[in-house]
Amino acid sequence: MTRRLDSSASGLAAAASILQAGGLVAFGTETVYGLGADATQPEAVARIFAAKNRPRFNPLISHFPTAAAAFTHVVACPLAHALADRFWPGPLTLVLPRAPGSTISDLAADGLATLAVRVPRGDTVAQLLTLAGCPVAAPSANRSGRISPSDATHVLAELDGRIDAVLDTGPCPVGLESTVLDLSIPSAPCLLRPGGVTLEELEAICGPIRLPDTQSDAAPLSPGRMLSHYAPHLPVRLNATAIAPDEAVLAFGPQQTPTQSASWNLSESGNLQEAAARLFAGLRALDLEGQRLHLRGIAVQPIPNTGLGVAINDRLNRAAAPRPDSALAPGSTLP
Ligand code: TXA
Ligand code: MG
Repeated sequence: MTRRLDSSASGLAAAASILQAGGLVAFGTETVYGLGADATQPEAVARIFAAKNRPRFNPLISHFPTAAAAFTHVVACPLAHALADRFWPGPLTLVLPRAPGSTISDLAADGLATLAVRVPRGDTVAQLLTLAGCPVAAPSANRSGRISPSDATHVLAELDGRIDAVLDTGPCPVGLESTVLDLSIPSAPCLLRPGGVTLEELEAICGPIRLPDTQSDAAPLSPGRMLSHYAPHLPVRLNATAIAPDEAVLAFGPQQTPTQSASWNLSESGNLQEAAARLFAGLRALDLEGQRLHLRGIAVQPIPNTGLGVAINDRLNRAAAPRPDSALAPGSTLP
């Protein structure tokens, strides 16, 4: 049985004590819901992997209420401080060398010499992290490989009965995961995952940021970079300018195909921020409705590849990628 807690003082106290006791609490952040456990307790972290069916090799982000708390666990370069001043609390994760005295478990860090740290935005999450008094390891609160949850109902749809509680803070305002920036070589910042803070915003402070070279980079592959991720059950077709009658449509901008039986407009006004916030909820809704109506797939209208559009298209490319699990393989007959 998973308890649904609210952000009242008693809800927060219950969530914090579950974390301290080594249990699992899903909680809302500005990006997506995280599935949290005390990062210093390896048994608690192991429960995250079990609840998500997550491959063991993925390192987790540790969440903190303040930059000062985060920086006790990593060796922060001046650039990390500048980025924290500008973007924390907010949707940016920094990968930095682990501090020698850090108490974060090897399991949370996957035994790496680096650690991913983040200070999420939101009063409730800040209170929870302060009350818990420990670093909280939290991947997105979905089954591994599935769509990230942007409200508490999504979390329960996949994890009810597998976790102790969900702290319901309503829908997540950003709706896309944090941007992951590797600063382990301070002179060569590297973008591991596009997300809620755009490349342009980061480059205004960092200068040019490199993209990882999968051939030669020693850095571990982020699961955010594994191809099939964020996968609905139905196949996904991108850059669709014409929609077949038996396809669901994920629309963007003024709607051209109003007769579609299953459709979800990310933003009728073409606003990328609104589109990001509605992306995962839309994929989930179309996946359910499309299966119910026996549609053959989800067609996605083109989305501009600028600003937050880069992160949106990154997630959509993964949703459309070939699936390792043949039971989920998209039909090969789509145009
Ligand atoms: O917005 C978010 O970041 C959400 C909320 C809950 O905070 N969390 C999230 O966690 O998306 P997750 O586990 O789904 O993605 C974490 C990303 C992965 O791509 C992972 O590989 C990368 O961060 N990561 C974590 N530690 C790393 C490390 N030491 N080096 C490189 N990448 C790392
Ligand atoms: Mg995830």
